Amino acid sequence: MNLVEFESVTKRYRLGEVEITALDAVNFAVRRGDFVAITGPSGSGKTTMLNLIGCLDSPSSGEIRVSGRPVSSLDDHALDQLRSRTYGIIFQNFNLVPVLTALENVMLPLHLHKISQEERRMRACAALAAVGLTRFADFRPDQLSGGQRQRVAVARALVTEPKLILADEPTASLDTPSALSLVELMKELNTERRVTFVFSTHDQRLLQHVSRVVELRDGKLSADRPTAGDKADTSVLPSKDSEVA
Ligand SMILES: Nc1ncnc2c1ncn2[C@@H]1O[C@H](COP(=O)(O)OP(=O)(O)O)[C@@H](O)[C@H]1O
Ligand SMILES: [Mg+2]
Repeated sequence: MNLVEFESVTKRYRLGEVEITALDAVNFAVRRGDFVAITGPSGSGKTTMLNLIGCLDSPSSGEIRVSGRPVSSLDDHALDQLRSRTYGIIFQNFNLVPVLTALENVMLPLHLHKISQEERRMRACAALAAVGLTRFADFRPDQLSGGQRQRVAVARALVTEPKLILADEPTASLDTPSALSLVELMKELNTERRVTFVFSTHDQRLLQHVSRVVELRDGKLSADRPTAGDKADTSVLPSKDSEVA
C-alpha cells in the first residue's frame, strides 16, 4: 500500500521577479516498509520534496495523497491530525532539549496525544529500549555521547509509532562512523519493526545501505531504483537513469 503518493507534483517559489521551480512534475510514491534515500546535489529539491511528503508545505500544482486521501481536501485541523498520526521527524542537529532527560525528550511528541502521563512514560521507555538506551533514560543530552544523542532523536521520532519517519540530511553534521551507525540503526528498525523511512542525503557512502534511491536533478526525478542492498535482484533490470540521461 502507498503511504504517500505524488501525482505530477510541482512546487514553485517566487523570489521577487524570479520564479524558481524547485520540484517539476514529480510522480512518486512511498510504500509501507520502504527505506528510501532522496539524493541529488544541493539545490536539486530534496528539502522541498521532504517538506511536501510531510505535509509541511503544499504543492503549486499536482496532487499529494496520504493514506489515499488528497491532502488538498483537508482543513487545518484535519491536516494537524494527519501529520501527528503519520509522521515522525529526525532533525538534522537532533534538537534535543538540554534541560530534559533522554526519557523526557522522547516523551515530548506525545504531549499532543490524549493519553495519560503513565502511558506516555511507558511508550517513551519502549522507544528508548528500541534504540538500546534503556540504561540512559535519566541522562541529560550533555551526559550522552554524540551517538547516544542521535539514538535519543531516533527514539523521539519513533515514540508516536508513526507510519513514516522523515529526516532531512540527518547525517550532515556527523563524521562517517556516526553517519553509518545512524543509517544502520534506521535500517535495523526498518527490517525488524517495519518502520518506513525516507531521508535525504548527498553522501554517496550511505546509499549502499538503503533499499531504494530516488535521485533529483533540478527538481526533476532523474532516477528511482532499488539498490543492491535490497532483497530484489535488480542487476538484470535496465537502469532507469540510462533512460533519462
Ligand atoms: N522558501 C524558498 N523560497 C525561494 N526559493 C526556495 C525556497 N526553498 C527552496 N528554494 C529553492 O528551490 C530549489 C530547491 O531547494 P531545496 O529543496 O532546498 O534543495 P536541496 O534540499 O536539494 O538543497 C533551490 O533552487 C532553492 O534555492
Ligand atoms: Mg536541503
